[in-house]
Amino acid sequence: MQSNQTVAKPPLVGLGVVLAIESSCDETAASVCRDGKILSNFIANQTVHEQYGGVVPELASRAHMQNIVPVAEAALQNAKCKMQNIDAIAFTQSPGLIGSLLVGSQFAKSLSLALNKPLIAVHHMQAHVLANLIADPKPGFPFLCLTVSGGHTQIVVCESPYKMKVIGETIDDAAGEAFDKSAKLLGLPYPGGPLIDKYAAQGDPGRFKFPEPQVPGLNFSFSGLKTSILYFLQNAGASTIYKEEFLATQEEKKTFIENNLADICASIQQRIVTILLNKLKKASLETGITDICIAGGVSANSGLRKGFEETGSKYGWRTFIPAFEYCTDNAAMIAITGYYKYLAGDFADLSVSSSARAEW
Ligand code: KG4
Ligand code: ZN
Repeated sequence: MQSNQTVAKPPLVGLGVVLAIESSCDETAASVCRDGKILSNFIANQTVHEQYGGVVPELASRAHMQNIVPVAEAALQNAKCKMQNIDAIAFTQSPGLIGSLLVGSQFAKSLSLALNKPLIAVHHMQAHVLANLIADPKPGFPFLCLTVSGGHTQIVVCESPYKMKVIGETIDDAAGEAFDKSAKLLGLPYPGGPLIDKYAAQGDPGRFKFPEPQVPGLNFSFSGLKTSILYFLQNAGASTIYKEEFLATQEEKKTFIENNLADICASIQQRIVTILLNKLKKASLETGITDICIAGGVSANSGLRKGFEETGSKYGWRTFIPAFEYCTDNAAMIAITGYYKYLAGDFADLSVSSSARAEW
């Protein structure tokens, strides 16, 4: 059965208190925003996935079910906001793990019905971009945003909070996947991105050379990097020759990684960062846009943040990076996007369905 009911379209004169829910992957998050200001940002991380080396969708949905009510309550409490003062409920509609998305959307719909307040459907990747509008100074429109997460790598032209266009994206792995898969090859636990960042801080980025893929236009490719690291490690520390090639035993490989971990991590990170920044430079040159942002979980990477600032000062960009807590998955970015949609009266009806895919 379909319901086309849209809950209460209010006159847009209130303060615009938005309660936002994010549940697209393995973080259950809630945030309250009033008049475009974030009042609270609460996240429950799901540690259950660590032992499996990646997110297990079924376990993620179950953990969201357990976390969602306490997380929403904590966000309201931290914001000193009562349920009845909410003007709208925003939630992540797409993209993501479908079971995880459904938990957030059902919760938001139930609240919308119970409180008779409008529902706002938010695109997770657009929210990553608009995380750059949370704090001052804000970028001017149009701005470019390099959005780098575990599932996506995109260059977006943002003309307004309501108009964005993807002008470049990955043709295979996302940048976050490149970090996580490289880390897995080094025997590091999931998610490996932050660990590569940590070890890279002590390493020499010039020690090992990994190739830069030649992809036309503004698109990216990271799968070749994973393969080159795999081959590199097959020979690493080898003492025997097999079919005219060095082939390391498991023990030799392990010892080599242990002895060179910082340099390997620094070299991998350097390659991923140069791939990203070279395309961003090209995008700025082609579009003439010099207000430039980064967003998404990988924008928490210290090598990328440093390289981005350096590139920005060399090319005369105004650079913007969200605060650390707004880079990885969070509900504050859903709240700020929800707030702009609230101002535009862009409400969803109760039949709106979640989508795993990333259509814009
Ligand atoms: O945006 P996000 O939190 O979730 C998705 O929507 O995917 O991004 C998660 C990704 C993971 O691949 C994680 O390893 C990566 O962001 N990440 C990092 C760092 N912090 C998170 N990668 C490199 N360095 C970091 N400091
Ligand atoms: Zn994300």
